[in-house]
Amino acid sequence: MCGIVGYIGTEDVKETILKGLERLEYRGYDSAGIALFDGDQVRVFKDEGRIAHLRDIIDYDVKSTLGMGHTRWATHGKPNKINSHPHQSIEKRFTIVHNGIIENEEELKERYLKNIKLESETDTEVVAQILSKFTTEGEEVTLAIRHLMSEIEGSYALAIIDKYNKEKMYAAKNKSPLLIGKGDGFNMIGSDAMAMVSHTNEFYELDDGEYVEITKDKVEIFNIYGVKVNRDTYKAELDSEDIEKGTYPHYMLKEIDEQPFVIRRIIAEYQDENGELKLDQDIINKIKNSDRIYIIACGTSYHAGLVGKYYFESITGKPAEVHVSSEFVYNTPILSEKPLFIFISQSGETADSRAVLVKVKKLGYPTITLTNVKGSTLYRETDNQLLLYAGPEIAVASTKAYTAQIAVLSIIAVKASNKDIDLIKELSIAASVMEALCDSKDLYKDLAKEYLSETRNCFYIGRHLDYYVCMEAALKLKEISYIQTEGFAAGELKHGTIALIEEGTPVIAVITQEIINLNTRSNIKEVSARGANVITISRKSISAKSDQIVLGDVNEFLTPLAAAVPIQLLAYYAALDRGCDIDKPRNLAKSVTVE
Ligand code: M6R
Repeated sequence: MCGIVGYIGTEDVKETILKGLERLEYRGYDSAGIALFDGDQVRVFKDEGRIAHLRDIIDYDVKSTLGMGHTRWATHGKPNKINSHPHQSIEKRFTIVHNGIIENEEELKERYLKNIKLESETDTEVVAQILSKFTTEGEEVTLAIRHLMSEIEGSYALAIIDKYNKEKMYAAKNKSPLLIGKGDGFNMIGSDAMAMVSHTNEFYELDDGEYVEITKDKVEIFNIYGVKVNRDTYKAELDSEDIEKGTYPHYMLKEIDEQPFVIRRIIAEYQDENGELKLDQDIINKIKNSDRIYIIACGTSYHAGLVGKYYFESITGKPAEVHVSSEFVYNTPILSEKPLFIFISQSGETADSRAVLVKVKKLGYPTITLTNVKGSTLYRETDNQLLLYAGPEIAVASTKAYTAQIAVLSIIAVKASNKDIDLIKELSIAASVMEALCDSKDLYKDLAKEYLSETRNCFYIGRHLDYYVCMEAALKLKEISYIQTEGFAAGELKHGTIALIEEGTPVIAVITQEIINLNTRSNIKEVSARGANVITISRKSISAKSDQIVLGDVNEFLTPLAAAVPIQLLAYYAALDRGCDIDKPRNLAKSVTVE
């Protein structure tokens, strides 16, 4: 989703902002723009397309120590130059960038902007014009910002430059992510720490309904009533090297390869000084005291949640349900008497999940977040937090966060159970098996070329835990290669889907659970008889000679960790073969900050 980066200091801002925007590219965008305050006027350069294109259209003679940039993921109006941010008020006093959605845009236009012809189709321009209207009518700028905030319904992270004040930048936040980076002789704003980490690793978080006045030496945070808020900074454990690609051609490949290391880091982080697994006792109590666990997540995190449900039920003995956030929020099921909510989110910023959190918090239920991003919205707003320790995940397609989520879920399930499982040993074995799988890239490259480079569609089939793996495998393949792919419970095929199998249709079967081995193999026969080209991924001890991908033996319940590697690499090489933009697939955003 949209990305914001801003800077005020003594150095020329262009490179800082452009590099910051490049660091936000992973969030997904279709247009980019920059505002440079030359001390006299605010110069705006923007267009549809990549930041590389923005670099081509900037006037490098403009010198500026105050500026801001934006990557836009279109919501209101097409991706084009006019709709790109920054937007300016009619007399060009205010220049604004925005992430979020103003829900009462039409009402605001009707109330305040009847006589103003808007240039763009965006809700952001409405904000710029209203701010200008309030100040033209005599309101001092911070009063006008507060007035504006009280009128807006919806989500926003706003950065504002007022051409009458070259020493200051303003920002405001509600529901959309925004951080303030504290520097020495400069200050920054950004949608996340990655945009600023080359310059600072000290940040202020903002709460909803707060606005900030930022000069090169000072950051002052206020609530919507204009009362100053005292807030300490925090240090982000983020190294700028963590967010480089190094020698890898794509972040996705790097992140796939990092998985064994991430699992080992999780083992280390969740281990006490006696070498035993540790987990916050409060979390264990919450699980024990609940009568049902509700796992809330979207996309890949939802698929990890399905595996988590299995862990809670089979290991902990606690009933669990998994829900897609966007469904749960408006179609809430009848809840048990003592529900516990576990939110799973790589980014910790997913608006759909946050909407559920707001709802269940109002009902007073206990909440836990599993996230990769310390200090993210879900991290801050739930009662307890568990970190994934996967390091920054930049590729839009989630890989290492998914396996980290499964590993942490297994730790929670085991720690909340009475079962005597040597999970450290089992996870270590899984990490080694994953490492070996990462080392066989030629195999996946060849299979992807043979089976997936030309196909229009593809099916993943599996049963039991393998079905959940298939759902994730299908998402991975479709989102980066654009092959229409579905993940099916293998037993469901004959209830409809088998009608789609024709000569040459690729079907990828996953078989890691002994109990379903023979059943899924029967399903393979059924699709083969109808012309499907089958790839089988199996676990060594139940493999057949003809299986093309064999996973080393890991404990049965941890096979989703091992199976993740081939399904991710098949997707990667299929997308590579088809010439797709692997790290930034079309229409997608890494951090989905609007509902
Ligand atoms: O940050 P989150 O885990 O909450 O994101 C949820 C989904 O948007 C995300 O998992 C998405 O499905 C992946 N990018 C797919 O690879």
